[in-house]
Amino acid sequence: MKRNILITGGAGFIGSHVVRLFVRKYPEYRIVNLDALTYAGNLANLRDIESEPNYIFERGDICDTDAVREIFRKYDIDGVIHLAAESHVDRSIKEPFAFARTNIMGTLTLLQAAREAWNGAWEGKLFYHISTDEVYGALGSEDTPFTEATGYDPHSPYSASKASSDHFVRAFHDTYGLPTIITNCSNNYGPYQFPEKLIPLVINNIRHRKPLPIYGKGENVRDWLYVEEHARAIDLIFHKGKVADTYNIGGGNEWRNIDLVRVIIGVADRLLGNPDGYSEELITFVTDRAGHDLRYAIDSSKLEQELGWKTEVQFEEGIEKTVRWYLDNEEWLDGVTSGDYMKYYDEMYDKR
Ligand code: NAD
Ligand code: TYD
Repeated sequence: MKRNILITGGAGFIGSHVVRLFVRKYPEYRIVNLDALTYAGNLANLRDIESEPNYIFERGDICDTDAVREIFRKYDIDGVIHLAAESHVDRSIKEPFAFARTNIMGTLTLLQAAREAWNGAWEGKLFYHISTDEVYGALGSEDTPFTEATGYDPHSPYSASKASSDHFVRAFHDTYGLPTIITNCSNNYGPYQFPEKLIPLVINNIRHRKPLPIYGKGENVRDWLYVEEHARAIDLIFHKGKVADTYNIGGGNEWRNIDLVRVIIGVADRLLGNPDGYSEELITFVTDRAGHDLRYAIDSSKLEQELGWKTEVQFEEGIEKTVRWYLDNEEWLDGVTSGDYMKYYDEMYDKR
């Protein structure tokens, strides 16, 4: 079956893995990637598939009503996988309005455009919204992991904006009948993640022998999922998920930050040919993040039982691949940390 799928935020970390999977796996689909190319968007993440005949890149802002409407019209979009967002908690503490704008208003703009374009002809249509486990708030160390029934309790401007967008998505289903699905996923790791997030930041700083900043005592816990596993789950849910439903996606792989950083140091030092424990001295405890959630953990049993999903990449394999990828792709890392890449985007865009 032919489909015209709009993927928003496809030039970002997770989005680029989703675009790659869909472009390669479904040559009969037309994949339209709408991305504003903010600091977090990088066309270099998609260089290997950018010439595929079923792939189209559109630079645009999800808050721009006319541009979004035009994309629905021009490409006859029948499915949306919405990943575009401001995604970094520390930035949300500094500039909360940017998060409200993109994550809330941008999602609302897309919902409204989908509703107008599909106009009640819901058969075969789907608006799939990608969200985060952070909307559920923080767990204590003894609490059971978040399920789909856990109440929303966001603490950061980032999670508050994502929670709000989730509510709008549900409201568009309940009020207008728009076919929607929401998934809430745990922390992702893997290639092409912007090095402001913990794992690529630590690898990059080991490479440059710079301090590895650990917030507070490093006791906060995150549940880490290899990014290609998330993309695989998105593919499964987009095709087999139940409309109006919510699914949690998680790695079942909880690590305290300090322990995770020590694992990364071990792998990186080995791959760099350094003596065992060589980079441990770079660990630097710094002032804690304001409102830092103690622990996130996801219960994925609904997704496993209803749709047969299970993780295939073990953490040891995923982290080894990830560290190796960043060490092998110095050009990518140096590009996104130098700021030159913004110039590259503008040139690429002008050529199109
Ligand atoms: P990212 O920051 O790497 O990428 C976001 C992308 O969205 C970038 O390409 C950026 O250019 C684009 N974008 C931002 N504002 C835009 C706008 N106004 N219009 C159009 N494009 C815009 O983010 P990510 O880590 O890949 O996360 C993708 C999605 O997954 C987000 O919705 C995030 O909330 C969610 N999520 C992320 C994680 C994680 O661990 N990274 C976990 C669960 C859920
Ligand atoms: P991050 O990668 O920003 O993801 P999130 O805040 O969405 O979970 O951070 C992961 C964890 O690592 C989180 O508990 C905050 C912590 N952290 C540090 O200790 N130092 C850092 O420099 C960063 C960026 C994060």
